[in-house]
Amino acid sequence: MIEVENLKKYFSTGILRKRHIKAVNGVSFQIERGGTLGLVGESGCGKTTMGKSLLRLIEPTAGKIIFDGIDLVQLKKKELRRLRPRMQMIFQDPDASLNPRMKIGDSIAEPLKLQGGLNKVEIKERVLELIETVGLNPEHVNRYPYQLSGGQNQRVVLARVLAVNPDFIIADEPTSSLDVSVQAQILNLMQDLRREFHLTLLFISHDLEVVRHMSDRIAVMYQGKIVEIGSVNEIFDGARHPYTNTLIAPVLSEDQLIYGDMKNAVDYSSGCVFYQRCPFSAGMCKKKEPEMVDIGKGHWVLCNRVS
Ligand SMILES: Nc1ncnc2c1ncn2[C@@H]1O[C@H](COP(=O)(O)OP(=O)(O)OP(=O)(O)O)[C@@H](O)[C@H]1O
Ligand SMILES: [Mg+2]
Repeated sequence: MIEVENLKKYFSTGILRKRHIKAVNGVSFQIERGGTLGLVGESGCGKTTMGKSLLRLIEPTAGKIIFDGIDLVQLKKKELRRLRPRMQMIFQDPDASLNPRMKIGDSIAEPLKLQGGLNKVEIKERVLELIETVGLNPEHVNRYPYQLSGGQNQRVVLARVLAVNPDFIIADEPTSSLDVSVQAQILNLMQDLRREFHLTLLFISHDLEVVRHMSDRIAVMYQGKIVEIGSVNEIFDGARHPYTNTLIAPVLSEDQLIYGDMKNAVDYSSGCVFYQRCPFSAGMCKKKEPEMVDIGKGHWVLCNRVS
């Protein structure tokens, strides 16, 4: 469904001296139709930037993105707009995605109206159907977002997304603004919807346990790069990248903490991205940039020690 090759997104910063933040620095992966790839990594490692570039919500600096056989990077704005309904992105904060002055029913009707093809009565029926699909009540239709809980509002966001019959959804930390008790409900709802509507998902989270629950494959990101990718079992039982291991094993002491700060990414120009924090880095790792190595069963690792 999705094929990404060497995707890059650099941001220019600095007033006196221009610098590039390599927020996404050459990532490649595929997601099969109906599959869920979990993308995990610490704050600032480039997850959101990758999601947005993938859908061209922001323009990628370089790379190839094939969506259902269509080369997204080559598409003109108009063609891209036509394809939009098929690819949707859900963000962390439902309140920011919903218009506070719009009733829930109107919010869900909005994408249906934009798409056209349905009359007023049909739109009303479809809204009620979507409301039910995401586990809300018909009485919610006339309420405003502030009159619903965070979890209920995230259900509204899901209804809006489903309204346009998407094939591919990027969910960017969709539950991290919610109470723990509500998080599981929304995650389970997303699982049900994924099955019912045969969705392909890219599920982004900094929480490896959440990603494990939601995905069949996991990609681990560090400073703009995917350092390891594989099935859930391969990652949990056979992780080979030292960074993945620090995510899986509980962190013990302050000096073992690894911060996903992009400061270093600005300066590093050669060698391994993980060089400075890697407990196993050898002299060559400072200079030699590792290449993704296929270690079998769809498991790939970006590490000089793996060959
Ligand atoms: N528009 C922008 N201009 C300049 N730098 C940006 C911009 N957007 C993001 N960045 C930088 O790119 C890097 C990656 O940011 P991004 O938001 O993709 O991280 P993330 O992995 O989603 O983090 P989080 O888990 O906190 O959401 C960060 O260093 C960030 O400061
Ligand atoms: Mg983010």
